[in-house]
Amino acid sequence: MEKILVIGCSGQIGSELTMELRKRYGNNNVIATDIRPAGAEVADSGPFEILDVLDASKLQLIVEHEKITQIYHLAAILSGNAEKRPLQSWDINMRSLMNVLELAREHHLKKIFWPSSIAVFGPTTPRQNTPQYTVMEPNTVYGISKLAGERWIEYYFNKYGVDTRGLRYPGLISYKTEAGGGTTDYAVEIFYEAVKHGKYECFLGPDTALPMMFMPDAIKATIDLMEADSSKLSLRSSYNIAGISFTPKILAEEIKKHMPDFTISYKPDFRQAIADSWPASIDDNVARQDWGLHYKYDLSKMTQVMLEEIRKKLN
Ligand code: NAD
Ligand code: SER
Repeated sequence: MEKILVIGCSGQIGSELTMELRKRYGNNNVIATDIRPAGAEVADSGPFEILDVLDASKLQLIVEHEKITQIYHLAAILSGNAEKRPLQSWDINMRSLMNVLELAREHHLKKIFWPSSIAVFGPTTPRQNTPQYTVMEPNTVYGISKLAGERWIEYYFNKYGVDTRGLRYPGLISYKTEAGGGTTDYAVEIFYEAVKHGKYECFLGPDTALPMMFMPDAIKATIDLMEADSSKLSLRSSYNIAGISFTPKILAEEIKKHMPDFTISYKPDFRQAIADSWPASIDDNVARQDWGLHYKYDLSKMTQVMLEEIRKKLN
């Protein structure tokens, strides 16, 4: 029987991934943790504990007491926030991962999921259809921590046989939990502002293309990777996953199909430089070939669901 620990369950991904894992593995077999309280859905449906993942002793106690077999380690400081507090963010992103990897090695845990990001790429990476293997010179604290993390999870697999699995998520779009301080957050905020005020001031310029993905596709990809036969995985750093690429202008046009009076204006801030250093689109053929990655949502389907669900939520 699997017993799963989710670290960072109160965030944008954790709040939805925890619920999907509980559906599959049973509510009491998924222990949700975060440094801050969980949302009602997670708190009411199964076990939840406050955990600062930097506290290695408490992490170890939970793993031993709950007889944990798998960890999904989602806690991190995202790109925009990390640029405001570089050293603290480096410490949180890296020390938390090393705590989890060491515990997995010592306790022979079955599997570890850790998310990487398109932020591992940098200004010298080819921007269009960015390959799995290419130049990687990230110039943000967040990106440097994700690239270092990829090297470490691969190292623990090669050196100690820890079954590590990772995905380079693009920007994730969802309506359940707010985005956590990243550069791709505009693509979530825009929907809320459209429904609430009929207009949005975007912190990226109109033609800034970035890869994005709707949350149900990201959750499915995560669990598909974790359930894939180990022998099928040709890499243990992190897989490229592409999703949908668009610019703020294209997204605004899609929203206007549903809300003809919606208007967008542009006031780029410090996140513009981060976005300019990231890929515009991603080649995810290795993930498709190794474990059958595929998606359900395109821009039009995602926009329709986002607007419908946010209207319901705000009413
Ligand atoms: P988020 O900021 O919404 O959630 C992160 C959670 O981690 C928060 O609930 C926070 O309270 C928790 N946390 C922070 N410090 C902690 C600590 N010391 N101990 C325990 N919990 C702590 O982020 P997210 O969007 O859900 O991202 C989850 C993971 O996915 C991160 O590793 C992120 O880098 C990665 N990722 C996210 C995206 C995206 O678009 N959301 C894209 C690429 C990669
Ligand atoms: N969505 C994330 C961010 O913008 C990408 O990893 O930080």
